[in-house]
Amino acid sequence: MDLRGAGMLVQRRHIFSWLARWFPKTPAKPVVAQKIPIKVELVAGKTYRWCVCGRSKKQPFCDGSHFFQRTGLFPLKFKAQETRTVALCTCKATKKPPYCDGTHRSEPIQKAEVGSPV
Ligand code: FES
Repeated sequence: MDLRGAGMLVQRRHIFSWLARWFPKTPAKPVVAQKIPIKVELVAGKTYRWCVCGRSKKQPFCDGSHFFQRTGLFPLKFKAQETRTVALCTCKATKKPPYCDGTHRSEPIQKAEVGSPV
């Protein structure tokens, strides 16, 4: 292999290690952001990014923390079908994301520390 080929190989390894660091194969677990939902007025036709990782400081929406904390998780993007007030989940354990389904009232969530994995 000539030096140019070796350089390309090193560069490729560097790119793959960078990608592995920022996009881990095994995603982190979401953490409990709060134990009660947040009521939000959604506007018809507007797109929102619901925080999946629980690390956002702008709950219930994404602030990019999932990326900077290298969680391997991504926000849930959704478009509001109508203008209405809804309760969005902040415990991150709902079975109907992004909406609250009452799971936050369950014992495991109520006993969990805010910031601990779901
Ligand atoms: S806040 Fe998560 S289910 Fe209600």
